[in-house]
Amino acid sequence: MDVIARESSDIEDSADRRGLRAAPTALRVRIIGTAAGGGFPQWNCNYRLSRAVRAGAAGFCRRTQSSLAASADGRNWVLFNASPDIRQQIAETPQLQPAADAPLRSTPIRAVVLTNADVDHVAGLLSLRERQPFAIYAARPVLEVLEANSIFNVLDPAIVPRRELPMGAETDIRAADGSPTGVSVESFAVPGKIALYLEEPGRTDFASESGDTIGLRIGAGKAGSLFYIPGCARVDAALAARLDGTACLLFDGTVYTDDEMIDAGVGAKTGQRMGHLAMSGKEGSIAALAGARIGRRVFVHINNTNPVLDENSAEHAAVRAAGWEIGHDGMEIVL
Ligand code: MLT
Ligand code: MN
Repeated sequence: MDVIARESSDIEDSADRRGLRAAPTALRVRIIGTAAGGGFPQWNCNYRLSRAVRAGAAGFCRRTQSSLAASADGRNWVLFNASPDIRQQIAETPQLQPAADAPLRSTPIRAVVLTNADVDHVAGLLSLRERQPFAIYAARPVLEVLEANSIFNVLDPAIVPRRELPMGAETDIRAADGSPTGVSVESFAVPGKIALYLEEPGRTDFASESGDTIGLRIGAGKAGSLFYIPGCARVDAALAARLDGTACLLFDGTVYTDDEMIDAGVGAKTGQRMGHLAMSGKEGSIAALAGARIGRRVFVHINNTNPVLDENSAEHAAVRAAGWEIGHDGMEIVL
């Protein structure tokens, strides 16, 4: 864990140079990847949905893996999750590229916040190796995964500090040098599971609240805020109450039905077994959040077996009729 040891005057000078003295008036969020692990189409998937998007069928759009970017000033950006598609996502997002007047090696990405240690959320860190300073924020269990896997040392902690997100508290997201980004997060554990590659035989806790999977409320000073929960196994009363009254929710849209991957013939696992709550059904996320007052509700982290990916499907229509949006790459939300 990094200890921020800079003098506050240094930090303020740096903030001044970046024009952060004025209180941010808006939180800008750009969803740069809306697919679950594997993306859409997935490289080896021959299911009808991947086939259709690969063929360019009407009503289908390609999606990269789960990630978003947020900024309080439009110039300094914080990534939320680092997907294996990060190079493509940066290439498609001018705001995340070096500015024309910036040094020869530079990035507007000041920090990366991780919500779990799944491959689709951490593998992109490896593509950010180039001795470029930024900060990593994650809950303790996810930091332990990074520490236990020496390949992540391509990001030298002396250059890319790793900082622990405390649960149930608000954290100002700061660049590697300690200067503020203007973006803050409130982090909280949600029901979920450890990454697939950490599972041990006989393990049955796929909806524990151990901090292996977290949700975030992302804010920017007095600007609005939104909730980002790309993985969640259950919506209990406490979570529904937490979300009540929010202007915007970006939520786990992995599967439409719990048995979807089995029905599609592509896998043996249910959504629950993967730590994901289905959209539909009595226990699903649409029903569980029907009573909560939420301004915009948007599904993200959508698996390549989910029928809502076909804009002409009955499932897509049902989700829209229930007041939900289906996230797409490049979607922007300003609060
Ligand atoms: C998940 O969201 O369950 C994981 O990303 C699955 C995976 O690791 O492929
Ligand atoms: Mn995932």
